[in-house]
Amino acid sequence: MPFSERVLLPNLRKVTPVKRMYPPWTTITEASQIIREGGIVAIPTETVYGLAANALNALAVAKIFAAKERPTFDPLIVHIASASNLPEAAESIPENAWILAEKFMPGPLTLVLPKRKKIPDLVTSSLPTVGIRVPDHPIAREIIREAGVPLAAPSANLFQRVSPTTALHVAEQLGERIDGIVDGGQSRIGLESTIIAFPEGKNPLLLRPGAITLEMLRETIGDIDVNMSSSEPGKALPAPGMVDKHYQPATPLYYGAVPETATLPPKTLHLAFGKISEDERFTKTLNLSADGNLLEATANLYSFIRKLDRLGGDLIVVDPVPENGIGMAVNDRLKRASLKYFPEPNATERR
Ligand code: TXA
Ligand code: MG
Repeated sequence: MPFSERVLLPNLRKVTPVKRMYPPWTTITEASQIIREGGIVAIPTETVYGLAANALNALAVAKIFAAKERPTFDPLIVHIASASNLPEAAESIPENAWILAEKFMPGPLTLVLPKRKKIPDLVTSSLPTVGIRVPDHPIAREIIREAGVPLAAPSANLFQRVSPTTALHVAEQLGERIDGIVDGGQSRIGLESTIIAFPEGKNPLLLRPGAITLEMLRETIGDIDVNMSSSEPGKALPAPGMVDKHYQPATPLYYGAVPETATLPPKTLHLAFGKISEDERFTKTLNLSADGNLLEATANLYSFIRKLDRLGGDLIVVDPVPENGIGMAVNDRLKRASLKYFPEPNATERR
């Protein structure tokens, strides 16, 4: 019986969970077996670590939602080994989707396509569409091949928290709730995949920016509309899961220019970008990229937020990152992680 069954379904099987220690990490062969047996296992990808289960097994998929404490209105992405397997999960594939698949798969791009009946409704939150991607990570693809099934895999973190870019990050948050973790080093990109949908009779729609940038997509297929979640109150979300509050550390984080009149709380931590001079107002500064390199900054983003979070400060202040290229995706994540207003003195409290 997979470990996750004992931990997450205690009403079904009354067994006291065993405390898990990491390492040892799970091997590719063990991970494939866990998946075939209906368990859940964290795997490395080039974007972030994913928490994987057999996408065709609704009970296994239910364990992912339970482990992450994720609401079931937030659909999962299905991972396949090669773009040539797209028709196994997608009922139909528009021309533009094929063009993007040929150019960017494997890679950090998720295509939202009409789903096949065999994909359980739980995976797609009952939507008629399914998000599909081919990870550009040899370990992830090897596990999919050995398991012989598509993998439903959200990022391997608790709901609304920071995504993991190392195996240790996964162990910290989910280690005791899941059947294993495969270590594949640090995620090369460090930010979740770009998501694009193909509404009928309309332009393709960017739902989440990522390393496959809007410029790259437009260069390849022409016009694309952009419809990411807006923080305007009362406005409907463009897609389930586009929750405004997301990617949050426990320490309150503020992204944006600090008002000149603001009083910084005593232990203010600083996430910098580019050339900076020493600033005594901050207890600690980490620089995402001293050279202002956006790819380097993206790869460091989540692990540096976690490092600062561990220092138990009052506030994390993040320098502005330019909006061009992958910067659009970094801005998207930081805005969702941020407090909406600079906090009043004494108003900061760990989440
Ligand atoms: O890079 C990634 O995409 C990572 C790695 C593990 O592959 N996965 C990831 O999954 O970021 P997750 O669960 O954290 O984000 C999935 C998001 C959902 O929140 C939702 O916004 C969108 O993908 N999504 C999935 N299926 C969708 C659908 N059918 N229609 C619209 N949006 C969908
Ligand atoms: Mg996520």
